Amino acid sequence: LKGLILSGGKGTRLRPLTHTRAKQLLPVANRPILFYGIETLVDTGIKDLGIIVGDTRDEVRAAVGDGAAWGIKVTYIEQSAPLGLAHAVKTAQDFIGQDPFVMYLGDNLIWGGLRRFVQEFYETKANSLILLSPVEEPQNFGVAQLEKGKIVKLVEKPKDPPSNLALVGVYIFDHNIFKAVDRIKPSWRNELEITDAIQWLITNGYNVKPYSVTNWWKDTGKAEDILEANRMVLDEIKTDMSAGIHNHNSQLVGRVVVEEGVELTNSIIRGPAIIGAGSVIVNSCVGPYTSISRGVTIVNTEIEYSVIMEDCRIIDFPSRIRNSLVGGNTTLCRSTSRCKDINLVLGDNSQLFI
Ligand code: G1P
Repeated sequence: LKGLILSGGKGTRLRPLTHTRAKQLLPVANRPILFYGIETLVDTGIKDLGIIVGDTRDEVRAAVGDGAAWGIKVTYIEQSAPLGLAHAVKTAQDFIGQDPFVMYLGDNLIWGGLRRFVQEFYETKANSLILLSPVEEPQNFGVAQLEKGKIVKLVEKPKDPPSNLALVGVYIFDHNIFKAVDRIKPSWRNELEITDAIQWLITNGYNVKPYSVTNWWKDTGKAEDILEANRMVLDEIKTDMSAGIHNHNSQLVGRVVVEEGVELTNSIIRGPAIIGAGSVIVNSCVGPYTSISRGVTIVNTEIEYSVIMEDCRIIDFPSRIRNSLVGGNTTLCRSTSRCKDINLVLGDNSQLFI
């Protein structure tokens, strides 16, 4: 079994953050989203992983390396242009050969692992196994229509969804998928859709089985999804202060992870929360459900339910920062006026004075 992670795409719905970094490298609990996907695949026993890259290839390579950190071999596969998920599969044909593979969209997060899913693929001898999960807005996903537990139809982003069962961005295929991607035509958005390729398998009598996600799953396409993913992952963390901490009169409440060289003065950190290496927090309240990346300075400020990326300076900020995703190297400072809660989605190098 091989693994194929898709880590291209433009991440337009996450601009401005994705002007300066790959969406799959946005941090959740201080680790790139992509790492969770890699670990989920490694946990199923996969040792040979292909990563499809596009414009952000250099960044993705720099973050993941050759796979040695996970004891696996990573092969990078260039997709010439973001022409759809089925096009990405086609691009990976040489890498995959005749082997079955798990395809995983690099911006998806799924809880509880995929071992059962992989086992089911072998037990049912299916040509493809697809993961389904009920969602509130099926029109934003690929959607499956089932009859007596069998898939009868798959449609990509239907205006009038036949059910609330979304296709999760994780699939298992055998080599027949390559036949399917060669037969389908681009969709209205000019992409070769994986959903259409799977529909082709169904129409042509191949065995495509549904598998229900029982655990939490998120496609981190928008800022709010990343914040939710951050809350989910932080909910599972265990207190870790083994890196040591310079604590001057501060309180840590609940489950908190503190990385190396953190300095806390007259502050309260409410878990679940993670504080990145070298960050300095003075006269502030941080958390719950907050991830502070490395090198951040926070002074006289309250922050909760947020993700603050590396090297930000947040000083004397007059409102409580909540549900906010703040890109790296951002400065948030007090000006003269006072106001209530605000919600921020700011890109790298932003500066905000209010
Ligand atoms: C893609 C697939 C869609 C699937 C979704 C899951 O959509 O095309 O069928 O439901 O991933 O994350 P996209 O995120 O590219 O819009």
